[in-house]
Amino acid sequence: MTTLFALLASIAVLHTANTTMVLETEPGQELKTIYYGTKLSESETAMLGSYKVQRTYPCYGVIGTEEAAFAAIQADGNRTVQLRIESAETSSWDGGNQLCVTCKDGFYPLTVKIFFKTFKDQDMIETWTETINEGKKPVTLTRFDSGHLPIRVDDVWISTLYGTWANEGRVNTEPLTRGWKVIRNIDGTRNSHTSHGEVMISLDGKPREDAGRVIGAALCWGGNYELRFQTNDSDYHHFFAGILPEHDNVVLAKGKSFATPHLALSFSNDGLSGVSRNFHRWGRKYMLRHGDQERRILLNSWEGVYFDINEDGMKQMMDDIASMGGELFVMDDGWFGDKYPRNNDHTSLGDWTTDTRKLPNGVPGLVKAATERGIKFGIWVEPEMTNTVSELYEAHPDWIIKAANRDIVKGRGGTQVVLDMSKKDVQDFAFSVIDNVMKENPDIAYIKWDANAPISMDFSNIAYWQGFYAMVERVREAYPDLTIQDCASGGGRANWGVLPWFDEFWVSDNTDALQRVYMQWGTSYFFPAIAMASHISATPNHTVFRTTSLKYRIDVAMSGRLGMEIQPKNMTEQEKDICRKAIADYKRIRPIVQFGDIYRLVSPYDNRGFASLMYVAENKDKAVAYWWKIANFYDEHFPRLRFAGLDAERSYRVTELNRLDISPLAYEGKTFTGRFLMESGLEIPATNNVEWSLKSDWSSRVLLLEAL
Ligand code: DGJ
Repeated sequence: MTTLFALLASIAVLHTANTTMVLETEPGQELKTIYYGTKLSESETAMLGSYKVQRTYPCYGVIGTEEAAFAAIQADGNRTVQLRIESAETSSWDGGNQLCVTCKDGFYPLTVKIFFKTFKDQDMIETWTETINEGKKPVTLTRFDSGHLPIRVDDVWISTLYGTWANEGRVNTEPLTRGWKVIRNIDGTRNSHTSHGEVMISLDGKPREDAGRVIGAALCWGGNYELRFQTNDSDYHHFFAGILPEHDNVVLAKGKSFATPHLALSFSNDGLSGVSRNFHRWGRKYMLRHGDQERRILLNSWEGVYFDINEDGMKQMMDDIASMGGELFVMDDGWFGDKYPRNNDHTSLGDWTTDTRKLPNGVPGLVKAATERGIKFGIWVEPEMTNTVSELYEAHPDWIIKAANRDIVKGRGGTQVVLDMSKKDVQDFAFSVIDNVMKENPDIAYIKWDANAPISMDFSNIAYWQGFYAMVERVREAYPDLTIQDCASGGGRANWGVLPWFDEFWVSDNTDALQRVYMQWGTSYFFPAIAMASHISATPNHTVFRTTSLKYRIDVAMSGRLGMEIQPKNMTEQEKDICRKAIADYKRIRPIVQFGDIYRLVSPYDNRGFASLMYVAENKDKAVAYWWKIANFYDEHFPRLRFAGLDAERSYRVTELNRLDISPLAYEGKTFTGRFLMESGLEIPATNNVEWSLKSDWSSRVLLLEAL
């Protein structure tokens, strides 16, 4: 399909600071994509005249052998859709522009609006559609992608994230070859386990962090999804992304409409890290709750005591975190249940009454204790779930998701089931879980919101998530200031479809520092450090049983939103001192980590024996760099560490943080130009030179760079 640009009257040109998207919007024709990539001037845009174009939103039925992004069945059984542009309107908003292309079916009373919203300063474009049934009879939508992007063939590679419980955010990199590549999730509640709904598309060969044209795409949806790449013997790869339609045919009654979730796109010429920086800036400014506010340093009780909750124990943990300079204590699972005390994961979800056998002064007693220690208090809940052994289930067996005529499929603990969030009563109940806790304890500052079971039986996933969004929106209206962590069996909800109501997510239940280097690396492709809860835990690690040095655990945890996940009473005074100092150091670098730009330098996936990344403050006056060895052999030879993102013309003083070495690094306190640091780099000793009792097979460094 070739069209001469010059002949067309209607072209929509969308610009961000560094990117351009060009669409053909000729009335009476189909919407077509001409270009998405680096920013073009007006005269360069006119040069696109000879470019081939592709349908932007191909619809099933009359497009020959092209794959469709949209399909619908009319009441008379007709399965074809043919959209023609009626109008294309551009409007502006504070952060950019919005294009709405209204398309009508040539025969049936069906309207599809295709939207593009630019975020100028973040180089992001969101696209989505809204379908309206203007007829009298129902229409059934059988496919309803959020968007389709034609990608010109070249040496195109994709980087996707896969994983499961305790191994989230792992990077998979591969070239796009002929045929299909499908990434999907059918968990129902935790859509970043198994696969992620985000992908990096590198256009210039094997992905690089610092160079090359890359498109990043993230589907902003909490439920089941499908990302599809199709490559035929043609000039284009076709990328489709949307809600997985298999579990949901959307039936639109007369006058009803359906809007897809947004697909967020970003283009950068600066490699994978360039796209990540765009996603992080957009995420902090427009998506994440309180993305402009520093996060508190916390101790979470889970790995320290698991279900063994009692008042004295909680107070002891509060004493310890307060004494180390922490700012918040979070009581995890195990604090509730009356008839069925929550002593393990077999019972009690849904019975959100405090177990006063464990906590005689209730939650208010703990909030008071936290206040007395000068810290804030947080609490764990799991509002969307119940156990079949619970008072809630006994009272409302009809509230759970269950296929008719089939036995219940149970999850965690052999009894966990998911509440049917499409029911208004259930939404009210889930809201009341937060509301009751907050009404009783208005000073609670933090909620850890967990979700530990999939939807295991046939059920409308869209209905579940529409109910979830309605309920969580109520929570946010009532409690706008609360910090809420999204946790779902670890990192099961690391996605931009959930985070707009949350402040952060728990990256993984696996707190092993080495595996975290790999998991946090992948997760940082799309999510900023401020959102990635990263905790110092005990060794041997409770999941992989690896023993790492405390310094290594600290140095890894400090690259995200720092916290602790440990029983401090089992730590020595020396270990507490090390943590106290680390917490003080983290407070110094917190704004750089939490609001800075990421530059991933050396990937753990490249197997070079070490990994390194850094954050640079927006005005480039400060940066913090992390270097972690990922394997230990004697007589190793590493390159100098070359930094990135600095101001070449400014001079930076180097200070090592979390220093345990007997003697300082040769360049401690010295200054170097940004150019030197980026082009020549610094020597990083292969091992930490520490006293005998601290020697281990782990080595790491954290370097603070401060412009003079
Ligand atoms: C799963 C979470 O990922 C853990 O951090 C912890 O909160 C447990 N649930 C509690 O049951």
